[in-house]
Amino acid sequence: MFVLVNLKTYPCEPVAVAEAVRDVDESTDARLAVAPQAAHLERVAETGVETWAQHVDPVEHGSNTGHTLAESVADAGAVGTLINHSEQRLKLADIDGSVRAAERAGLETVVCANNPEQIGAAAALGPDAVAVEPPELIGTGTPVSQADPDIVEGAVSAAEAVDDDVSVLCGAGISTGEDVVSADDLGAEGVLLASGVAKADDPRAALEDLVDPL
Ligand code: G3P
Repeated sequence: MFVLVNLKTYPCEPVAVAEAVRDVDESTDARLAVAPQAAHLERVAETGVETWAQHVDPVEHGSNTGHTLAESVADAGAVGTLINHSEQRLKLADIDGSVRAAERAGLETVVCANNPEQIGAAAALGPDAVAVEPPELIGTGTPVSQADPDIVEGAVSAAEAVDDDVSVLCGAGISTGEDVVSADDLGAEGVLLASGVAKADDPRAALEDLVDPL
């Protein structure tokens, strides 16, 4: 299972969380990675943890003030990027452009979507993975894999129908090993989570709990 921890703009210490993700990754068969804010990418990548960006824009080098260039996040040490997170929604043409920009920079891609219909559309753009996250469950602590298992199974079927090389992650409310096992049972190849680790009193213990049953 792939466990991708999105730090959003939570007031956690990114390097400390990154070191915990790196250490727990070394102690399990699961693959763990962390997605800090763009400004923290370089410091986080220096820890040796697998580092992801939270977003890249559909732009090339040039006059794009305030945008996030895929090549720059790659230079900062990111190996992958989220695209179209629920908190950073893009138009379809821009999702396509961001996937192409990430590919150009050699970044792995996870395109987020709300439901199986959107997952099918996202998979058609040829990312490495898609992530289904019902927005109403994000940050609630109520895991999608238990609260809405149909949406996870529907997302897996929708992605497979378009391109069975595109893996499916699920996210929203995931915070325990039991939630990860439920996601695995529903056909997801990984989980995308944030508050369960970034807002935990002890992020390392939260990560250990997440991978414990794997
Ligand atoms: O990107 C992960 C996310 O949106 C889910 O957040 O806090 O429900 O794990 P959370």
